[in-house]
Amino acid sequence: MGFIRKYLHNILRFALILCLIYFVYSCWGLSFKSTEKQKSAPTFPFIRNTFTNRTNCKPKKNIFFMKTHKTAGTVVQNILLRHADLHDIFVGLSRTRDPKFGYRDGRYFNRDFIRKSDSPINMLCHHMRFDRSEVSAILPNDTVYITILREPGSLFESLFNYLHYDCKTFSRLPLSPSGMEEWINHPRRYFRGAKDGPLWWFGKNSMFYDMGFNNLNNDEEYIQQSILEVEEVFDLVLLTEYFDISMVLLMDLLCWDLEDAAYLALNARAVSGEFVPEVRRRKVEEWNHADTLMYRHFNKTFWRCVKEYGVEKMDKNVKKLNELNQQLQDACVDGGAVGVSRVRDPRNRVYNPRGVEMKGYNLKHGAKELKICKDAIRTENKWFEYFLHKQ
Ligand SMILES: *[C@@H]1O[C@H](CO)[C@@H](O)[C@H](O)[C@H]1NC(C)=O
Ligand SMILES: *[C@@H]1O[C@H](CO)[C@@H](O)[C@H](O)[C@H]1NC(C)=O
Ligand SMILES: *[C@@H]1O[C@H](CO)[C@@H](O)[C@H](O)[C@H]1NC(C)=O
Repeated sequence: MGFIRKYLHNILRFALILCLIYFVYSCWGLSFKSTEKQKSAPTFPFIRNTFTNRTNCKPKKNIFFMKTHKTAGTVVQNILLRHADLHDIFVGLSRTRDPKFGYRDGRYFNRDFIRKSDSPINMLCHHMRFDRSEVSAILPNDTVYITILREPGSLFESLFNYLHYDCKTFSRLPLSPSGMEEWINHPRRYFRGAKDGPLWWFGKNSMFYDMGFNNLNNDEEYIQQSILEVEEVFDLVLLTEYFDISMVLLMDLLCWDLEDAAYLALNARAVSGEFVPEVRRRKVEEWNHADTLMYRHFNKTFWRCVKEYGVEKMDKNVKKLNELNQQLQDACVDGGAVGVSRVRDPRNRVYNPRGVEMKGYNLKHGAKELKICKDAIRTENKWFEYFLHKQ
């Protein structure tokens, strides 16, 4: 009897353990399933490859984008490259491993910088120092020319932080608000021009420099003449401060869909520039006179464009673009923008200079195979590799 009781006891214990294991397992499975469900992306309304509702114009294929530095140009480039990829637009690429066209050496763009190919080139959209005749020599004569400018006060703040250790002139002072204040209070004390070696030009009128002009020439007539030249060459000058309005104007000019412009903020600092105090802004403007005049000029022409486009229509389409951006974010991004160190896939990490934290994204579990999601967060360097491989 004692033996049977002991035997039963053991069976009961065994059954209890089995139940427990099953219970734990099923709970775990359930919770696993529910997070899976939560993470999987909803269907995406605008994965399309068609031009809708355009009867009065033909989508532009030949595009030159003069990508300036720290002006949100990476987002514009992402929009252009995504579209180029879908519509077999041939992108001219650097023949070196650096996506920029000889930029670091301070050289003007030259047609020899382009990787040789049999296809005619439709688009250029990587950093360069602009040379009008060299660019126009390799692009079709109906090419649309666009660029983007940023208000010099906030641009300076961005350059001082992002390029701090890459530009000797900035690195003479600590990477701190007081360092920045000191630099702009006494720029002549810290700016040594070309003697400072690579990237020295970010210390003064860097947009003017990128556009191919002499950033040290303060002559009013030279500056005005140069601005007129920009106006003559470029069909549209976008402004970082009015980014969404800029995108609506751009889609209109290119005859693309608003859906093509849906974007996620890329290559931005995790802690973005706060409000620039008026006193500092004035000092920045005084030191970067050419950039300031250029910005002011194109801020005027910009609002003329908006007026021509229609203010009401603009409001409506900016709202629509914001909705599209939200949909893109909801469908693709897990947990909003995070610091680069928290981006799980190393391929999706942007270059993060010392002393600042750049933003990046993690894709939702179910979004990893959605082309639009992968494309929207692809970094500049990964796009470069992508097109090298594709073309
Ligand atoms: C295209 O136009 C039709 C009719 O005007 C409208 O119902 C539809 O929503 C438009 N489609 C897009 C994608 O704007
Ligand atoms: C543009 O190029 C095409 C073909 O290359 C040529 O036929 C046309 O005359 C050119 N147009 C202008 C305005 O130069
Ligand atoms: C651009 O011009 C508008 C209209 O004149 C002005 O209100 C605005 O402050 C300017 N923007 C910047 C960033 O300077």
